[in-house]
Amino acid sequence: MSHERIASTFDEWAKSGRGENMEYGHGDVVAQALEQLDIRAGSQVLDLGCGIGWATRLLAGSAPGVQAIGIDVSPSMVAEAEKLSSLRIRARYEVGSFEKLDFKDGKFELVFSMEALYYAPDLAKALSEIARVLKPGGRAEVIVDCYAGRPTTADWPEAVGLSLQVLSEKEWRAAFTAAGFAEVDSERLIDRRGAGKEADFTPGSCFGEFKAYQDYHDAGSLWIRASMAPAAS
Ligand SMILES: C[S@@+](CC[C@H](N)C(=O)[O-])C[C@H]1O[C@@H](n2cnc3c(N)ncnc32)[C@H](O)[C@@H]1O
Repeated sequence: MSHERIASTFDEWAKSGRGENMEYGHGDVVAQALEQLDIRAGSQVLDLGCGIGWATRLLAGSAPGVQAIGIDVSPSMVAEAEKLSSLRIRARYEVGSFEKLDFKDGKFELVFSMEALYYAPDLAKALSEIARVLKPGGRAEVIVDCYAGRPTTADWPEAVGLSLQVLSEKEWRAAFTAAGFAEVDSERLIDRRGAGKEADFTPGSCFGEFKAYQDYHDAGSLWIRASMAPAAS
């Protein structure tokens, strides 16, 4: 699948307000991750697939002097992110692809990504780029909602109209290890707001009935936590 196709799909999402919907939908899981990340003052942070940049801004505000850069292949998402930005925090946004990161080797302490990496047409290349731009001892903190074994996600590529890398937890861990990460862990994050009430549920292309959404919710988001080896002393 081409980056142009992905960009045009997400340009449409940005124009129809789905960037803000994602901020709400992904907000609690990202908040849980940020509570545990312990980002150091002055860190350089990259947010891959930043959408309208809400998580980039949270990362930038997470400790004094943090500089966060959001990358997204969709120019409309990046334009929305720029509109929402504030001069009070050190966040900026660039149009770019996961597979060709325009940064020097070892620039970042942390690469974060929420619900984006499985869109990579070349996942192995994207992971090797993440490893390249991380400092020794740097961390990749990647969260995905669509993974093999989670109820309904096998139907998502058709629903979204894009080809997705629907990997199992074991396959995600193996992919990070193959890209050169020294330590790879994973866990689940379950949205603390719950699945909601059946009476409020509206069927859509991903969830035809409330039970399917409830099972999906209960399985949780997959959080892959990978670190590069520290510098040799
Ligand atoms: C589901 S959205 C998530 C956006 C944001 N992280 C959030 O939680 O609101 C996935 C984002 O990844 C971007 N994306 C997908 N494939 C990409 C690629 N190969 N390179 C850069 N960005 C990509 C899309 O344009 C889209 O904005």
